[in-house]
This record gives sequence, structure tokens and C-alpha cells, in this order.
Amino acid sequence: MGVTITQGPPGSSGEHMDFKLLEARGYSIEQESRLSYRGSPTGIKQVVLAIRGGKRHLVSHCKDQDSLRRHSRIQSLQAKIPHMAKILDRVESFLLWEEAPGKLLWELEDGRPSLGSIEDALREFVSAIGTVKLVHGDLRPWNVFFESKTKQFTVIDWGYSCFIGEQKSEDARLHISGRNPGVADAEVDGVDLGKTIASLRVPNRTEEIWKLPPNIFSWRPYPWTN
Ligand SMILES: Nc1ncnc2c1ncn2[C@@H]1O[C@H](COP(=O)(O)OP(=O)(O)O)[C@@H](O)[C@H]1O
Ligand SMILES: [Mg+2]
Repeated sequence: MGVTITQGPPGSSGEHMDFKLLEARGYSIEQESRLSYRGSPTGIKQVVLAIRGGKRHLVSHCKDQDSLRRHSRIQSLQAKIPHMAKILDRVESFLLWEEAPGKLLWELEDGRPSLGSIEDALREFVSAIGTVKLVHGDLRPWNVFFESKTKQFTVIDWGYSCFIGEQKSEDARLHISGRNPGVADAEVDGVDLGKTIASLRVPNRTEEIWKLPPNIFSWRPYPWTN
């Protein structure tokens, strides 16, 4: 099945992809609309699911060798990283991710976790990735899922990740330094963690987030900023 999915900044035309390779491995392909943050002017993104034996995987595509190498390294380290959606399979440059249960933190209305429990989980995550010199680079409420029955947190989206002391992708460089000027790479996730908690303290509902003046939120919600 061929599907056009949007990758990259809002307004970009999207990329047509062929999932024959995945179908040849026994996956069936479906498309779904999901709330995101970037990737589309509405905040809704088309995602691709690969399903096999009843198990659902989110599909992402590494657009270059650098991204593929970085994600392969993350996969090799993932057993040491609590609260991350794991990479369960890789087919050439496609990655198949464990589907995070629940909803993104900024979509949650009922069954919200306490701020203390969010902070505890994200600190465990940040500390574990710091130990292996990895920077997530985009630790914000739209990249963290929470499932209220099991109280499980799951971090997704390594699109701006990098390894400390190694050259960053252009995307990561612009995003990380642009958003946190002067903050050392090793501190970026800790700073974002603090902003995530601060931002969740204020708004109550998604619609209200949109009405807030930008700086209450520490960073402006889409569409005003990066
Ligand atoms: N492992 C996953 N489990 C569940 N949903 C996911 C997963 N990965 C991505 N998504 C969904 O797809 C959206 C976009 O994916 P993401 O990797 O965050 O890319 P981007 O932020 O660049 O659009 C997420 O906001 C989420 O709704
Ligand atoms: Mg994201």
C-alpha cells in the first residue's frame, strides 16, 4: 500500500511512501489521524500503523543514514531506558514502534496523573538517558503518553535526539539550540522537563491552552513557535 505521510515542518508537502516491504513481512498497513504538535498546521498528523498477529506498531521512516544510525543506537540502548516506547522491529529504513497506551499529556482531561508522578517518571527517564550520553531533545507534553489504569508513562519521538559530544543533525541543532539558547546539551532534557511540569500546572483543557498568552506556557503552543 502506498501512503502519503507528512514528515517535517507544517506546510511541507509530505512524502509518498510505499509499505510493500512491510507487507512482505506480514504486516498489514493502516492509516490513522492522531493528535501531535508539529507536522501539520492543525496539530493532527496522519500516522501509519503496521499490524501483525493483532499487535499494533507505529511506523516511522528514517530519512537519512544519520537518522537510521542514531535510532539503531537508541534501539541497542533501549533496555536501559525506562518509560520509552520501544523499537520492536526494523525493516530497512522503517522503524516499528511499540504503541504507547493512553493519551498525550496535553490531551488528558480525565484520569490525570499528579504532577509529582509525572516529574518522577520523567526524571527516571532523563537520568537513564543521561547515563548513556543520550539527549531526547523534545521532552514536552505532546511527546509523553499516560495511561490512567496502569499509571504508565511512555515517551515517544526521538526526532531531535543526539548523543552528547557528537555532531547533531541539522534538525536537532536548530531545534535544541533555537529553543534553549545557551543551555548545554546535557541539560536540555532537564530544562524541558521543568517546563513541561510548569506548563501542565497552568492550563486545564486543550482549548484553554490555545487561549493562553504564550509565555505563561513557557513556550508558545502551536502555531506561534517552534
Ligand atoms: N509509539 C507511539 N505510540 C502511540 N502513538 C504514537 C507513537 N509514536 C507516535 N505516535 C503518534 O504520532 C504523533 C506524531 O509522532 P511523533 O513521533 O511525535 O512525530 P512529530 O512530533 O514529529 O509529529 C504523536 O504525537 C502521537 O500521537
Ligand atoms: Mg512529537
